[in-house]
Amino acid sequence: MWTGKGLKRFINSSIRAVETRAMKNYLLNLDQKSLQTIREIGEEAERKKRSAYIVGGVVRDIILKRKNLDLDIVVIANAIGLARDLAKKWNGKVTTYKEFGTASLETSEGFRIDFATARRECYAHSGALPHVQPGNLSEDLLRRDFTMNAMAIAINPDCFGQLIDGLGSLTDLQKGVIKVLYDQSFMDDPTRILRAVRFEQRFSFKMEERTLSLLKAALQKKAFLNVKPPRYFDEFKNILHEEDPIKCLKRLHQLGGLGFLNPRFKAHLQDLNLLHQRIQETRKHLFYRQKDWWLIYFMGLMANADCRVVDRVLTKFSFTKNERVGIQQSLKANEVIKKLSVRQLRPSQVYQALRYLTGEMILYLRVMTSTRIVHRRIDQFLIHSRYVKLYINGEALKQMGIVSGSSMGKILEDILCLKIDGKISTRQEELRAASACLGKFSGSIC
Ligand code: CTP
Repeated sequence: MWTGKGLKRFINSSIRAVETRAMKNYLLNLDQKSLQTIREIGEEAERKKRSAYIVGGVVRDIILKRKNLDLDIVVIANAIGLARDLAKKWNGKVTTYKEFGTASLETSEGFRIDFATARRECYAHSGALPHVQPGNLSEDLLRRDFTMNAMAIAINPDCFGQLIDGLGSLTDLQKGVIKVLYDQSFMDDPTRILRAVRFEQRFSFKMEERTLSLLKAALQKKAFLNVKPPRYFDEFKNILHEEDPIKCLKRLHQLGGLGFLNPRFKAHLQDLNLLHQRIQETRKHLFYRQKDWWLIYFMGLMANADCRVVDRVLTKFSFTKNERVGIQQSLKANEVIKKLSVRQLRPSQVYQALRYLTGEMILYLRVMTSTRIVHRRIDQFLIHSRYVKLYINGEALKQMGIVSGSSMGKILEDILCLKIDGKISTRQEELRAASACLGKFSGSIC
């Protein structure tokens, strides 16, 4: 934790170390539209006599020529004012967070830019949210997680494109080294444990020796217990959003970093390789492209866990109701797949097997198996059966003399099944099917 004199000494020595390098203009790696937007931000900052910089992971990705949809701007004093002026100029929408000195601007084209007033941070205790104070650029860079994420690029017109790197960040990035900026980093913010693993696996980088031993020490001290579980889980979700989450999960497991889920959780990661492969194939299809894949990976991770462990995980971390239901349903995935694999199955039987399952659970079933017939049945349900609707409703049945109650629901469902199976299609046919049901209906259900 950075407090008192130690912090001041560290910052002062590092301020001296931060230098502006007149070197390659990495902004030229960007497309014309982004470049123009950044130029305009820099010009507006200049008009207001402020210095503005692109900072953090975006700089890393610009240098690596990787796409990054975020744009994080640090302004030396009053970022909110700058964001507001730009919003007016661009006809955009700005949301401000005065207590943090930050603002988020959405341009009319849907492009999001985050503005933050340069700040320094200190942590009251391990895992606490940092206490924030206005600071200078060096302090803003020094508060960050890893050297590779602690660079800035100046965007004011007179120094447009200059890289600010006083911490050896560029060298670390080029060497592929992940290095914390100070020893207490993982203890101050234990979510950085997950970030280190995520970046290491995403970029195929290596953790610097000392960083790795600090990370292991933080895990041994169970530093994650100091962070509010939903916050820690949010960072874990970022792992599941990675292109190859399994690599990260394996590494985290190897480091003993999955224990945060539950002390009794036992991971069976070998089964996840196949799941990952099938997810890769499935998400290529347009129909499945936009789905919440992180949850499917999470279902896979929980697949062999004890029910009580899953229940505790569901209580401890914050899931939406739909996510919770889906995860619980996923524990019965094998049973559903068995049902969907039998030789003769009408579309309406598939409908009945799937109708109460969440969208993600259905997707999970699809990637759990390679059986074609099951894939076909699931696709038919998703594309067709679930949208089939009746022309008639309870009112029509009442007019035919059926009293409302559970039997009415059952009759409507039976008619719907006939329609899903293609046996009827028009309103007339539905009414005929209803009276046939009625004929058979004498206290019992048709
Ligand atoms: N950051 C940090 N400590 C954290 C989270 C973020 O120091 N626990 C800093 C890092 O400088 C990071 C920047 O805030 O680069 C932006 O954070 P974020 O958008 O979460 O991450 P990125 O580095 O941009 O990573 P990603 O590519 O996954 O978005």
